[in-house]
Amino acid sequence: MESKSVEQKQGPKLFYTETYGCQMNLNDSERLAGQLRTIGYEGTENADQADLILINTCCVRESAEKKIHGRIGEMKRRKLVNPNIIIGVVGCMAQKDKDKILKKFPHVNLVMGTHNIHQLVELVAQIEKSREPVLAVWDQAERLAPDVPTVRKGQISAWVPIMYGCNNFCTYCIVPYVRGRERSRPLDDIVAEVRQLGIDGFKEITLLGQNVNSYGKDSESQPDFADLLQAIDKIDTIARIRYMTSHPRDINDKVIETIKNSKKICEHFHLPVQSGNDEILERMNRGYTTAYYRQLVAKIREAIPNASLTTDLIVGFPGESEEHVIETLEFIKNIRYDAAYTFLYSQRSGTPAAKYPDQVPLPTKKARLNQLMDIQNEISLEINKKLVGNILEVLVEGPSKNDENKLMGRTRTNKIVLWEKTGTEKIGELVNIQIDTAQTWVLKGRLI
Ligand code: SAH
Ligand code: SF4
Ligand code: F3S
Repeated sequence: MESKSVEQKQGPKLFYTETYGCQMNLNDSERLAGQLRTIGYEGTENADQADLILINTCCVRESAEKKIHGRIGEMKRRKLVNPNIIIGVVGCMAQKDKDKILKKFPHVNLVMGTHNIHQLVELVAQIEKSREPVLAVWDQAERLAPDVPTVRKGQISAWVPIMYGCNNFCTYCIVPYVRGRERSRPLDDIVAEVRQLGIDGFKEITLLGQNVNSYGKDSESQPDFADLLQAIDKIDTIARIRYMTSHPRDINDKVIETIKNSKKICEHFHLPVQSGNDEILERMNRGYTTAYYRQLVAKIREAIPNASLTTDLIVGFPGESEEHVIETLEFIKNIRYDAAYTFLYSQRSGTPAAKYPDQVPLPTKKARLNQLMDIQNEISLEINKKLVGNILEVLVEGPSKNDENKLMGRTRTNKIVLWEKTGTEKIGELVNIQIDTAQTWVLKGRLI
């Protein structure tokens, strides 16, 4: 018995992270992992083995929150098995709910907000020493938090934040409240990070920001997003550049021109439209009309004819009528997106739209979502079917999740491609795949 417990103490301390929400959160988790490594922790995929558990949370919709609450509740069991375990709730929900989390879940040791991510090492040390619960949630960020070490999940694709926060205050959205005001990273820091990623063997990078087209606008002398793209485009070792998310209002001609003239920036435009009705767009505070958006798409398609186009749509925003929905359906038929991410409007307290009187009942929202998805799925399939017979350049990412004899990769237009492994392709390599069959969300083919 005794020797066993001594043995357990001698191994490295293990941490387990669970991440919800957007890419920004996934990247934050890599920065949490990076910090823990510096104090001797190693990662584990098994929560049962962990000495430290961090749940990195999202609160953009109620559905995400409910799931996370369930998971935090389940962690109580871990505490009963191992009373010394440290359980932390970090990220957007921690930022929003602060001490409410400690009250509701007394087994939680650490609540850490989005502006405090870089403090993890000192906070863990504090808890290890005192065993008292710690609340670390700053209301506002310093201009820019210091960079911390990163341990990347992948080996081929990497996320690189270029700016934090959001100034847009779309009336439905909680993000500006939990991520603070826009803060851009200096161009030289971003270029240095991407250059190092290239040296480390990464082939694709995705530049992250809630509104990447606002890059640099928070300081007078800063270069803008197009300047940043041009600088990154020059880094030899990187094969592909992606970015997200673009606000349709702010993407400009200089950016479109830069993408057109670049060989590495992928010809995929994710332009969240949210609704196809002008009244709703105005009430959402999106800052554009459907006419403007149509013109923007026409301009992009003229400049880059083979570009793919994807979007986000919210159904059931307060005041949305059947007519508004019909307009949105007509709009998506007219634009013909390659894919759309569709969401049920979720009331977020503290946002203006949560107080709008004419909330749409849940069954109506669900029916509208189904209608929208049916139409979009048909369009996605039609567009993908046109690719059958084509040979497409695919970046090999790794084995398919469901079938280890198949490999998975993406086209420049961000379509997922699966093919039978031949053994000659290497992970991280660009290969040519002939497309044989098309489905709504995937293409299947063979190596050429
Ligand atoms: N900054 C990005 C994405 C933010 S969140 C952008 O502006 O595009 C990602 C998506 O979640 C949004 O595009 C929107 O479609 C959806 N979303 C945000 N708040 C929501 C809410 N309260 N209810 C339902 N969907 C929401
Ligand atoms: Fe939310 Fe709008 Fe900001 Fe996107 S641009 S994060 S939807 S407020
Ligand atoms: Fe969610 Fe926060 Fe991202 S609320 S969508 S994890 S910025």
